Amino acid sequence: MSKFWSPFVRDLAPYVPGEQPKMANLVKLNTNEHPQGPSPKVLDAIRAEADDRLRLYPDPRSTALCEAIADYYRIKPEQVFVGNGSDEVLAHIFMGLFRQSRPLLFPDITYSFYKVYCGLYGIDYQTVPLDQDLSIRLTDYDALNGGIIFPNPNAPTGRLLPLADIEALLRRNTESVVVVDEAYIDFGGDSAIALIGRYPNLLVTQTLSKSRSLAGLRIGLAVGDEALIEGLTRIKDSFNSYPLDRLAVAAGKAAFEDDAWFRQGRDRVVEQRGWLIGQLAERGFQTLPSAANFVFTRHPGHSGADLARGLREQGVIVRHFGKPERIADYLRITIGTAGQNQTLVAALDRLL
Ligand SMILES: Cc1ncc(COP(=O)(O)O)c(C=O)c1O
Repeated sequence: MSKFWSPFVRDLAPYVPGEQPKMANLVKLNTNEHPQGPSPKVLDAIRAEADDRLRLYPDPRSTALCEAIADYYRIKPEQVFVGNGSDEVLAHIFMGLFRQSRPLLFPDITYSFYKVYCGLYGIDYQTVPLDQDLSIRLTDYDALNGGIIFPNPNAPTGRLLPLADIEALLRRNTESVVVVDEAYIDFGGDSAIALIGRYPNLLVTQTLSKSRSLAGLRIGLAVGDEALIEGLTRIKDSFNSYPLDRLAVAAGKAAFEDDAWFRQGRDRVVEQRGWLIGQLAERGFQTLPSAANFVFTRHPGHSGADLARGLREQGVIVRHFGKPERIADYLRITIGTAGQNQTLVAALDRLL
C-alpha cells in the first residue's frame, strides 16, 4: 500500500499465479507446465535468431508466426492474432470485446483470471454454476449477455465439452462474442477452430505454454473471424505494438512446424495421465475425467488442505485452491514425467 496509489489500484484484486519455487529438487506439479522441454528445432530457431538483429524492433504483426499457425490450422493469417501469452490475448479480448452493456457470462468454477480482467476493465459479469458433477452445461448460458467465455477443457476441473455442444450454443447465441479458451485442448479434445468459418462471433484462444512446452517464452493466440482479429489488433496497437519479441516469433513458428515432437510429447502426457488416474483410483481418490495435462482429484478420507501440505513437506507441489467450498477438498495435479508421477504416488502413500 502506498499513498501514491490511485483508488483504482488500491481496489484491484489481482490474479495469484501458482508458485514458482526457487528450491531445487522439488517435484513441481502445480502450474500445468509440460514435463518435457521444447523441440530441439525450437531451440535451434532461437539460437539462429539471437544475433545483431536484436537491435531492431520485431515485426509488429508477428507475420511469420501467424502464417505458421494459419498453415497448421488451414486458415488465413488474417484470422490469427498472437500475444504475449494467452493471458495477454485474453486481456485484449476482455478490454475490446467484452465491455458491453450486458453482463459477461462464465462458469463459477473456472480460470480465475476472468474475474480479475472484469475487475480491471470494469466489466459486469455473471457466473453460471457448474452442474452437480462439475461440468459446464451450455444450455445454462441461454440468457441475454454481453459475451460468453469458458475454457474447454475447463480449468481446474479438466472436464471436456463436445464440439457439438459448443456449436449448438453458437447457433443459439448469435449476438455476442463467444470465446472458447483452449489452453489445454491438445491433450484430449477437438478444437473449435473448425467452426470459425461458420460463426463470425466465435474466438478460440490457445497457448504455447502447455502442449508446446514454451511457458517460459509467453506465446498465446486467438483465432476467429477477420473482423474480430482486426478489433484485437486495434487494441494491441493502442497498448503495445510489438508484444512478441524476435526470439518468441522464431520459436513459436518452429514449434508449429515440428509436429512430430509435439505429438510424442503430448502422447506421453496422455499416457501418464491414464497411469496416474489408475494409481489414484487404487488409493481411493475420486478423480474427474480429464482431457487436460492435469487431474482434479479428492480423497474422501482426507482434506485437500492436509494433502497439499503433506505433499509439500515431501517436496511435491500441487495446486490446492481451497475455495469455493465445493472444490475445497480437490487437488489439481499437473501430469509430470513418469519419475515425478511415481514420486507423487509414493508421497501420497506415506500420507494416506
Ligand atoms: C484456462 C487457461 N487459460 C489461459 C491460461 C494462460 O496461459 P498463458 O498465458 O501461459 O498462455 C491458463 C494458464 O494456466 C489457463 O489455465
